[in-house]
Amino acid sequence: MTRTDLLQLLADGEFHSGQKLADDLGVSRTAVWKQLRKLKDSGLLIESGKARGYRLPGGLELLNEQRIRAALQGSAKSLLRKLVLTEVTDSTNAEIFRQLQAGEAASGLVCAAEQQTAGRGRLGRNWVSPFAGNIYLSLAWQFAGGAAALEGLSLAVGVAASTALAGLGFKGISLKWPNDLLYDDAKLGGILIEMTGDTAGSCQAVMGIGINVKMPERAAQAIEQNWTDLERIGCAAPCSRNILLAALLNHLLPLLNEFEEQGFASWRERWMALDAYLDQPVVVSSGDQRMSGAARGIDDSGALLLDTGSGVLAVRGGEVSLRRAP
Ligand code: BTN
Repeated sequence: MTRTDLLQLLADGEFHSGQKLADDLGVSRTAVWKQLRKLKDSGLLIESGKARGYRLPGGLELLNEQRIRAALQGSAKSLLRKLVLTEVTDSTNAEIFRQLQAGEAASGLVCAAEQQTAGRGRLGRNWVSPFAGNIYLSLAWQFAGGAAALEGLSLAVGVAASTALAGLGFKGISLKWPNDLLYDDAKLGGILIEMTGDTAGSCQAVMGIGINVKMPERAAQAIEQNWTDLERIGCAAPCSRNILLAALLNHLLPLLNEFEEQGFASWRERWMALDAYLDQPVVVSSGDQRMSGAARGIDDSGALLLDTGSGVLAVRGGEVSLRRAP
C-alpha cells in the first residue's frame, strides 16, 4: 500500500473506518494506522473520530496527468512534450537535471511533484514543500544563445505566472524583483532558474516555480518570511492544483517557445505594471554589501533601477536580494 493508495480512498473528505480502509487496501489495520501517521507527519490534517474513523476535512485532489492535459489550451498542448508527475522528489529542478543527464531533450520537458524533500530556493535557501498542498513545478527549455539569452527570463516567468493566476480569479498579485510573487506584501511564490550546458552557446535552462496553494500551518513554521497562499487570498472557484498547473503551463510554455527570439524588452511594461516596489524606498543586498535608494522599476534587460539620490544604478540579478527599507 502506497501513501497515494490510501489518499485516494480518503480524497472524498468523508469518514472511513480503519477496518474498511484496511479491507479495501488488503493490508492490516496497523499498516493503515502507520501510513496515516506518516501522512500527518508530512503536514496533512487528518481528523479521527471514535467509531467514525478517519477523514481529510475538505477532501484532497492529487495531481493527475489526464486532468492537467485536459485543461491545456492552444500551443501549450503541443509544446508540452513530456510531463513527469512524481509523488516525492528531492527537488523538481533536480529531477529535470537528472532527466537531461539521462539524454532527455530539454524543450517541453516538465516535472511536478506532490512533495519536495529538498526544495531549492534562491540564494541557497530551502523551499518549504509539504505534501499535496502546493505547486512545485519545473520546466526545461533549450536555448542557443547561452546565459545572455536568459537575461530577464525569470522576470518574464513571473509575469506569465501572475497572469495565469489572474485568469483563474486571483487578482492583486504583484511581483518583487527579481522573482517573487507577492500578495499584500506576503510571499505567495518564487522562481528559481538554473542552467546547464555552454554558458556562451547551446544550453538548457530549468525554470522552477513554487506557489503556495494550501500551506499547512505546521509546515509554514519553517518559512522564514511573511508568507501567504492562494487559499488565504480566496477566489470564487476552489483551487484545483491540476487546473492551476495547466493554467501555468498554458502561459509558460508559449513564453519559453518565443523568449529567445523576442527577448525580455517586450515583457518590460507588463512587469512594470505588476511591480510591488515601484518608487518605494528599498535596500539591495549582495553578500555583505548594502545599497539604499528608491526602486524605479527595471530596464530593458530586466536589471533593477536603483535611484541612490546621486544617480540611477542598474542592478543585475544573481546573488542579489531586495527588501523594503525599514
Ligand atoms: C525562491 O523564491 O527562492 C525560489 C523558489 C523556487 C521554488 C521552486 S519549487 C519547484 C522548483 N524546485 C525547486 O527545488 N525549487 C523550485
